[in-house]
Amino acid sequence: MPQRLGIAVIGAGMAGRAHASAWRTAPTVGTGELPDIELVSVCDIAGDLAAATAARYGYSRHDTDWHDIVNASDVDIVSVVVANSLHKEIVEALLAAGKHVLCEKPLTDTVDDARVMVASAERADSIARLGFTFRRAPGLAAIRDLINDGTLGTVSHINAWYWTDYACSPTAPMSWRYKGELGTGALADVGSHLTDTVEFLAGPIQSVSGGRFHTAITSRPLPLGHVVGHDHVEVSDEYEPVGNDDYAGFGVEFPTGSGVIQVSRIAAGHPNSLGVEVFCANGSASFDFRFPGQIVLNQSIDGAAATGLTTIQLGPDHPYIADGLPMAAPGVGVGQNDGFTFQARAFLDEVVGRPEAESLPRCAHFSDGLHALQVRDAVIASANDNGTTKEVTA
Ligand SMILES: NC(=O)c1ccc[n+]([C@@H]2O[C@H](COP(=O)([O-])OP(=O)(O)OC[C@H]3O[C@@H](n4cnc5c(N)ncnc54)[C@H](O)[C@@H]3O)[C@@H](O)[C@H]2O)c1
Repeated sequence: MPQRLGIAVIGAGMAGRAHASAWRTAPTVGTGELPDIELVSVCDIAGDLAAATAARYGYSRHDTDWHDIVNASDVDIVSVVVANSLHKEIVEALLAAGKHVLCEKPLTDTVDDARVMVASAERADSIARLGFTFRRAPGLAAIRDLINDGTLGTVSHINAWYWTDYACSPTAPMSWRYKGELGTGALADVGSHLTDTVEFLAGPIQSVSGGRFHTAITSRPLPLGHVVGHDHVEVSDEYEPVGNDDYAGFGVEFPTGSGVIQVSRIAAGHPNSLGVEVFCANGSASFDFRFPGQIVLNQSIDGAAATGLTTIQLGPDHPYIADGLPMAAPGVGVGQNDGFTFQARAFLDEVVGRPEAESLPRCAHFSDGLHALQVRDAVIASANDNGTTKEVTA
């Protein structure tokens, strides 16, 4: 095991802060010894933001040019948390320099670029992983365990949604999130989390059908200041067209059944509602991120009569809460930020060579990110062909 691991985060925006914080708290969850974790640098082209984020989370310095992170001899592990279109160039340079890389989702913008990134990750001596954090939600992990241990059994159908409303206002400023073709909007942004969640529970999506997109707000004003995440800042009178989707919906087929997926960034009143209802051989279960500390279970008895819906408060018997939260008691609540901490700990365990059996589950591979883009492209192809069924091509 190395004596120390130096950490840097590239991108100090909405998710960059979550990464910066997670590396700090990662050693407080999970089990087993770790080297000294040295918080080295936060890098952002917005220097003030980089400096403020570095100071807030205890990093020694800040940078404004990501090449300085690539060339930094005191940095071993880097989170890449910038706009999707920038992931490939930065990740490729980091891997070539021997850095371990945790890249945000979606892996990149196109399947072709994703293939190149997968090949680079396979060639690299260092570790390259992807940030599908929702796999770390204790409720979703608990439902997956109930499916896999036979309590719920084989999944027959699933209803999954991710409602957000960050784009509801027509004066929400233009940002990288609104640029690109249909399929690079809500579907890539929040939909990549959701397709991964559906596959986490039900297995690989093999085909999609009924693909459709809707863009309600077709132009947006340019910001007059730096935009972080979904923030509203003062805007100019100048507008730019929005090319991508506010809403996407489609059907899916997976090995044992089928389902419906819908995502939106204009779902008024739902700032962050990822939810699933999963129907299985022996019952059903649901999870809604608005109530992240609970799952709802309905277990059939002998496949016929049902016990009725039971709301279960997540506690130390559930994944990630034992050896995880500071107060590991039922009903203490969990949040999206916790997922970043568990993700960072799992990444550190892999870097130091701890076997997966003694670690939190490993982070997603770049190949999972490529697959997510292949699902997205099948939805685009379906939408372009009147909703016709399209195979997800490997
Ligand atoms: N896992 C999650 O739950 C989650 C949540 C939100 C975002 N994300 C992902 O994280 C990534 C970033 O999203 P965000 O919402 O934080 O974006 P953001 O717009 O809030 O922040 C991006 C930051 O990158 C900086 N930046 C731009 N170009 C740069 C460069 N060349 N070098 C260094 N910094 C640069 C910007 O100044 C900005 O501060 C995206 O890939 C997004 O999909 C993941």
